[in-house]
Amino acid sequence: MERVRIVFMGQAYEVPALSTVLQALEGVGYQFVRGVGCRGGLCGACAFLGHLEGEEQIRPGLACQSIVADGLHISPVPSYPVIRPPHILEDRAATYETVRDAYPELLRCIGCNTCTRVCPQDIPVMDLLSATFRNDFFRIADKSFDCILCGLCAARCPADIAPFNIFLYVRRLTGRHLTPPSHDVAKRVEGIDAGTFEEDLDRLMSAGKEELEQAFRGFQTARSGN
Ligand code: SF4
Ligand code: SF4
Ligand code: FES
Repeated sequence: MERVRIVFMGQAYEVPALSTVLQALEGVGYQFVRGVGCRGGLCGACAFLGHLEGEEQIRPGLACQSIVADGLHISPVPSYPVIRPPHILEDRAATYETVRDAYPELLRCIGCNTCTRVCPQDIPVMDLLSATFRNDFFRIADKSFDCILCGLCAARCPADIAPFNIFLYVRRLTGRHLTPPSHDVAKRVEGIDAGTFEEDLDRLMSAGKEELEQAFRGFQTARSGN
């Protein structure tokens, strides 16, 4: 099996060439109780900054998704210390001014685009930050939806901006003020308040395993028939 040399916290290891960074580190004995979560590229907990010998540029990535490379130096970014102001939604308009008041550091952005280059989710981070100036909230909400809060953009930003928090606030403002209300949800909440589902719920709560499995299969069949 082909092996490559990686360096983690100053210590070199020979690891299988086709392993992910996470598999390689666990394979040489590290046990992570923090800084790892889903192992599927979804939770953003395993962000790292890599530096390949002979290369100038930093290689950021997710340890559970990135394959090791010969001469790769790995620095974990388990969490990035940022203070998030309260995301006030009431009495605030979904506008650039609201976001700027909560995150005045937005004005410090120097347009270097580092945040975009390091994003493992291919989110056009800088472009979306500049979209706040144009009140283009739907675009920001849509394009930043895949953000996994890994913190790499904040870790590399020379202006100490945490774009992921700004996107979160924009999505919340968009949901609260700009997205049309869902009539289906309102109708369902009305039904819940009126006790329409009490009988069904009581039956499910007292059902045994077999009955629950049968109900679930029926539900699946009904769904696939739709
Ligand atoms: S926007 Fe930032 S926090 Fe979100 S996935 Fe990209 S790098 Fe990670
Ligand atoms: S890394 Fe920071 S300063 Fe550079 S474009 Fe992104 S937010 Fe702006
Ligand atoms: S462990 Fe969740 S993204 Fe890697």
